[in-house]
Amino acid sequence: MAREGRGSNIAVIKYWGKRDKKKILPINSSLSVTLSPFDMGTCTSAAYNPSWKGVKLWLNGKEEDANTERIQNCLREIQARSGESDMKEGIRIVSTNNFPTAAGLASSASGYACLVAALGGLFKVEGDLSVIARQGSGSACRSMYGGFVKWEMGKEEDGSDSIAVQVAPETHWPSLHALILVVSDEKKKVSSTGGMEESVRTSKLLAHRAQAVVPDRMVRMEQAIKDKDFAAFGKLTMEDSNQFHATCLDTWPPIFYLNDTSRAIIQFVHAFNEEMGQICAAYTFDAGPNAVLFVEEANLVKLAHRVSAAFPPSKDKTLEDHLADDELRNKVQEVGGWEADQDMGGRVKYIIHTKVGCGPSALTEDESLIDLSSGLPK
Ligand code: DP6
Repeated sequence: MAREGRGSNIAVIKYWGKRDKKKILPINSSLSVTLSPFDMGTCTSAAYNPSWKGVKLWLNGKEEDANTERIQNCLREIQARSGESDMKEGIRIVSTNNFPTAAGLASSASGYACLVAALGGLFKVEGDLSVIARQGSGSACRSMYGGFVKWEMGKEEDGSDSIAVQVAPETHWPSLHALILVVSDEKKKVSSTGGMEESVRTSKLLAHRAQAVVPDRMVRMEQAIKDKDFAAFGKLTMEDSNQFHATCLDTWPPIFYLNDTSRAIIQFVHAFNEEMGQICAAYTFDAGPNAVLFVEEANLVKLAHRVSAAFPPSKDKTLEDHLADDELRNKVQEVGGWEADQDMGGRVKYIIHTKVGCGPSALTEDESLIDLSSGLPK
């Protein structure tokens, strides 16, 4: 038996900090946009055969240890909800990302959301699965639903009310687009898990943010989304990204996720909005230098034109490599007058165009990644 799911999200009100590390309970609520799984997502198959030995897992073609605390937490919770007696045997999981992992976009959010969706489907677990995905990776709980999703921090010690809730479905704001600017970066990343632990321990700004800033922003962000008010949505998104990175700088010793290119992108977006006379584009950055820009359809081509010229491909690459979406690139080329800023050549590796997407969805048997007779990846 096999079943598959997919998903990935970008937070517009950031989750940063846990009040309980084991159960993955956050110090503040957060809100994200689920991105289209067809452009940026994970595909996972899970199969069960009691005659197979142990639990095995392959990620992007490589066998990985399935015996980690986070995977075991997910298996234990699925087991408890499904009434299965023993999940230490007979499970095979195969997972691939449908975007280049070299981009540094490999996301624990889509990975665990997919894993839990696939296992939940396999063992016919009904009801909310976000509470389980949360125990794989905090941000993963928000990827269990499509559209606009909040993760309510909850109050209970057992985490039963720390769940994801859909604020609006993926069909709610069809004119909203996202451009992902994949920024070149050689530096070794500080993991989200480790980074937020240090921030909780040392940053007074983070404690203030969680108590005094985020609750009000959550209310305003939800309203901006319901009203499809881009100026309000964009301003809050940028403010919250900036405050998250400010708490990283306030961590001791400080953590830097943004680099010079990220900061140049921030300045570019502010200059673009200044010229437009209102907020027409918004940036947000997670625990790394890549930018996600939001823009409405009416301004998409203009933004793509500007951004691909301000952050053009390196000399050995063409715009075809840089802006892979044929339709959008053709429109950019039709505008004409495209002139690359040579100083910035190659600082952005490439640009992905995507939209708001759905939550994990079941795929057909044909799309299964597991050979059901051997239990090995196809
Ligand atoms: C900056 O969900 O990766 O992307 O719960 O320890 O697995 P763990 O952390 P993770 O943290 C994500 C942090 C963030 C902001 C966000 O997605 O809200």
